[in-house]
Amino acid sequence: MSTAQTPAPRPRTQRPRRYLMCRPAHFEVVYAINPWMDPDKPVDAALAVLQWERLRELYRDLGHTVDLIDPVPGLPDMVYAANGATVVDGRVLGARFRNAERFPEGAAYLDWFRSQGFPEVHDPEFVNEGEGDFLVTASFVLAGYGFRSDQRSHQEAEAFFGRPVISLELVDPRYYHLDTALAVLDGDEIMYHPEAFAPGSRALLETLFPEALKVSAEDAAVFGLNAVSDGLNVVLPEAAEGLAAELRARGFRPIGMDLSELLKGGGSVKCCTLEIRP
Ligand code: ARG
Repeated sequence: MSTAQTPAPRPRTQRPRRYLMCRPAHFEVVYAINPWMDPDKPVDAALAVLQWERLRELYRDLGHTVDLIDPVPGLPDMVYAANGATVVDGRVLGARFRNAERFPEGAAYLDWFRSQGFPEVHDPEFVNEGEGDFLVTASFVLAGYGFRSDQRSHQEAEAFFGRPVISLELVDPRYYHLDTALAVLDGDEIMYHPEAFAPGSRALLETLFPEALKVSAEDAAVFGLNAVSDGLNVVLPEAAEGLAAELRARGFRPIGMDLSELLKGGGSVKCCTLEIRP
C-alpha cells in the first residue's frame, strides 16, 4: 500500500461495545458449506475453545460487555455468532440461514433476543445471515449478496432499520460473507479487499469511501478483514501482519489473535462476534 493513500494518523477513541458470543462447545467440521471447510482435516476441539476464550477475555479486558448464548448440540457453526442476527438501534433483525445445516440457528438466536426482552425482534422473510452480510457504518448498512444472503433481504433490512442499505455483490467464493471481505473501522471508515467485489460494487465502494483502506490479497487470504474494531482497538487474525502495520499507521491499535481452529470452519474474529447496538 503506498503511503500516499494513507491519511495522517488521527487520534482514535474507543467506544465500549456490547457483544454476543457462543462458546464452541459443539464445534466441529463435519460438512462443507464454504471453501475453507474440509471435513477430512482434523480440528482440535479443545484448542478451539481455548482460542475462543482468549478472544472473549480480550474483549472483557478492553472494557466491553460480552453476553453469551448457550451453544446447541448438533449446531457446530453456532460459534459464528455474527451470523445470528443484526442489531441496530436496539432493533433485532433475525437471521434466516441459507443452508439446512445452519437453519435451526435462526430460531435459537431469535429466542435469545426475545428472552432478553428486546422489544423489537423481527423474524425475517428472506434469507440473511446476520452480520455475516450486514455491516453497519455511521451512515449506512452495507449488505453483501452473491453467496448467502438473498438480495431481497436488503430491502427488508432497510424497511426494518430505517437506514439506507447499500447492496454489494460478492464474487469470490472464499469471501462468501461480506464480513470476510470488508470491515468497519470507525464511523464511515472501512477497509476492504476490492477483488472480492463485482466491478459495479467496487466502483460504488470507491465513490462512497474514497479514503478506505484497501487490503491486499495476502492479508485477505488469512482472514485479515474478519476484524472487530471498537474505534481504537482492531482485533484481527495475527497472520495479517501487513494489515496490522497499515492500521497502526492510521492510528489504530491492531491486536492479533490466533483462531486457527475456527478458521477451519471458515471464520475468525468477526464471525465469532455479534455486536448489539443500543
Ligand atoms: N461455517 C460457517 C458457514 O459457512 C462459517 C461462518 C462464518 N461466519 C461469518 N460471519 N463469516 O456458514
